[in-house]
Amino acid sequence: MKIDLTTKIGNLTFTNPVTVASGTFGTKDEYASFVNYNKLGAVITKTITRLPREGNPMPRICETPSGMLNAIGLQNKGLEDFIENKIPFFRKLKTNLIVNIAGDSVEDYVYLAERLQKENGVKALELNISCPNVKKGLSFCANPELAYELVKAVRDVTALPIFTKLSPEGFDLLRVADACIRAGTNALSLMNTIRGMAVDIETRKPKLARIFGGLSGPAIRPVALRYLYEVKQRFHIPVLSMGGITNAADALEFLITGADLIAVGTANFINPRATMDVLDGIKSYMKEKRIQKIDDLRGTLKPEAGRDGRNCIPAG
Ligand SMILES: Cc1cc2nc3c(=O)[nH]c(=O)nc-3n(C[C@H](O)[C@H](O)[C@H](O)COP(=O)(O)O)c2cc1C
Repeated sequence: MKIDLTTKIGNLTFTNPVTVASGTFGTKDEYASFVNYNKLGAVITKTITRLPREGNPMPRICETPSGMLNAIGLQNKGLEDFIENKIPFFRKLKTNLIVNIAGDSVEDYVYLAERLQKENGVKALELNISCPNVKKGLSFCANPELAYELVKAVRDVTALPIFTKLSPEGFDLLRVADACIRAGTNALSLMNTIRGMAVDIETRKPKLARIFGGLSGPAIRPVALRYLYEVKQRFHIPVLSMGGITNAADALEFLITGADLIAVGTANFINPRATMDVLDGIKSYMKEKRIQKIDDLRGTLKPEAGRDGRNCIPAG
C-alpha cells in the first residue's frame, strides 16, 4: 500500500508532517551524516536574530528526569551570516526551510521578516515569541495585545506563511493564541519550553548559571498534547506540535489529536536519527491499520477514554 503523508498548510505543501524543533537541529548541515534532509517535511532553524548573540554563560544545559533544562540564550551568528552562509545550502534541497526568528522589539521582527522574504529558499517564518532564556523573551507571549501587535506588524510586511511559537509559561496560552490568529498567523507552533531549575547537592549551587532553564523532552509531552487539544477544540488553525516527541508512537498521539505537523526536538540529541525513525514508524502504523492518507488519520481522536478498559483509572 502506498502511504500518502502529504500535508498542506495554506499554499505550502509538505511531503510529510515530520520536522525538527528549533534549536535542536543546528542551523545548516549539522545532522547531514545521520539524516537525509530531503526526507523531512521541513527543517526549522535555530532562532536567528538581527545581530550575532553569544548566548548565556555556561553551564547552560543539564539533564533532568525524562528531559533536560537549557538556557542557551539564543546563541547564533546573526542574520547576515545566515543569509550568506546557511541559506544557500537549503536552496539545493527539496525540503521546506522554515526560519525561526526572534528580536527585542516589533521592529526587529519586522526587519528580519522583510529581509528573509527576499531570500530564495525561505518557505516560512516561525516567530519565536516564547523564549524563556533571554531578558525580554517572554514579553510578547505574555500579553495578547503585544502578541497581536507583533504578529500583525510581521503580517503586514510579508506574504510568507507565519508560524507563531507559544509557550504556556504562566500566561493564558489560549488568549494569546486567539490574538495571534486574529493578527493573521497561518499556524501556531506549540510549544516552547517551560521554565524549571535543578540544584547540585554537592556544591549547593543551581546547576545552571542562569538558575532557570527551559524544560523540554518527554517530561512536557502531556502538557504539549493538552494545549494542542485545547487549541484544536477552540480554533480552526493549523498546529505544529512539539514537546517530548521521541518516537513514532509519541508523534501519532499528536497527529491523532489533530496536529498538522510534528517536530522532534530534544530527542535529536539522544538519537540523531530520531526523525527518520519517527517517519518510518508512522508509515508502518498506517500500513498496519490500512490507512492510506495521513489526512484520514489526523484528528481522529475519539471523544472518550478508557471505554475498552485501558488507561482507565477509577476516580476517587
Ligand atoms: C537546547 C535547546 C535549544 C533550543 N533553542 C530554541 C531556539 O533557538 N528557538 C526556539 O524557538 N526554540 C528553541 N528550543 C525549544 C524547542 O524548539 C522546543 O520547542 C522544545 O524543546 C520542546 O520540544 P522537545 O521537548 O521535543 O525538545 C530549544 C530547545 C532546546 C532543548
